[in-house]
Amino acid sequence: MVVVGTGSVGAAVADAIVLQGLCDELVLINHHPDKATGLAMDLMDGTEFIGRFVSVRRGDWSDCRDADVVIVTAGPKPKPGETRFQELGAAIDIVDPILAEIRDSGFDGILIMVSNPVDVLSWFAWKRTGLPRAQVIGSGAALDTARLKAIIGEITRLDPRMVSGYVIGEHGESQFVPWSTVSFIGKSFTQYLEDNRDRYEGVTLEGIEERTRERGMTIKRLRGGTSQGIAATVAGITRTILWNERRVLPVSTLIDGEYEYDEHDVFLSLPVALDASGVGDFVDLHLTDEELARFHASARVVREHCAMIAD
Ligand code: LAC
Repeated sequence: MVVVGTGSVGAAVADAIVLQGLCDELVLINHHPDKATGLAMDLMDGTEFIGRFVSVRRGDWSDCRDADVVIVTAGPKPKPGETRFQELGAAIDIVDPILAEIRDSGFDGILIMVSNPVDVLSWFAWKRTGLPRAQVIGSGAALDTARLKAIIGEITRLDPRMVSGYVIGEHGESQFVPWSTVSFIGKSFTQYLEDNRDRYEGVTLEGIEERTRERGMTIKRLRGGTSQGIAATVAGITRTILWNERRVLPVSTLIDGEYEYDEHDVFLSLPVALDASGVGDFVDLHLTDEELARFHASARVVREHCAMIAD
């Protein structure tokens, strides 16, 4: 497996992969080779104390050729208050040559984009590499969905993993929660909240959705950027693929008519089954008319930004 970019996110992703023992060999690529060499050495130093030996080394583009998974985390240093879309110009300058090198290496595995704005860059990666749609994935709203569950866990003081549901759309401002499809300990979450109104005074679906959407920016304001949540998310996506788990995750994927959106090709997050071949079956959520309209609106926002970088 290859991780491109060894900044804070790339290093956290590499750390999660090694600690979880997801592969036999992890190759790190950075445009400053010493940074990749130093991180590889640093990760190898912990080998004695982790469950599985993972060989970590600095590599080059030729290592992509036979890789089963390549993860791209490289991107501009986040600026305070800057939205993910505002990073697009600087991000393209970094990611475009990387994608060309991956393509030219003969890579034919699963490409996982993490760099922001991840939906636009995943679409760009699909275009640039020519890989089949099933083999290009963006981390997308898998992170936002994990955040939604974490926040519900904080509110209810119950295990967040008991929430069944997804954040869908853009990994950004136009993401949303199709609450009609979210369930929690045996009932719709909406009903759960109604049944426990006295316990959750002041808690609203809109409030939970906003906290989820703003979580990344809140953490960025508090510590300068995010790394741990995205790293755990990317490791979860990678494990599902490497271990052929067919787990359903809301990753950013090519939308080609799903949910009646057929205006242009675009990448957005929808729940799909992931396995060793990449993106498999789409989950058919029964969205309300209002939820469907929000999904289309999110697609149009992302599409606008794809058009800005289209050749
Ligand atoms: C975040 C970054 C990964 O939301 O976009 O933390």
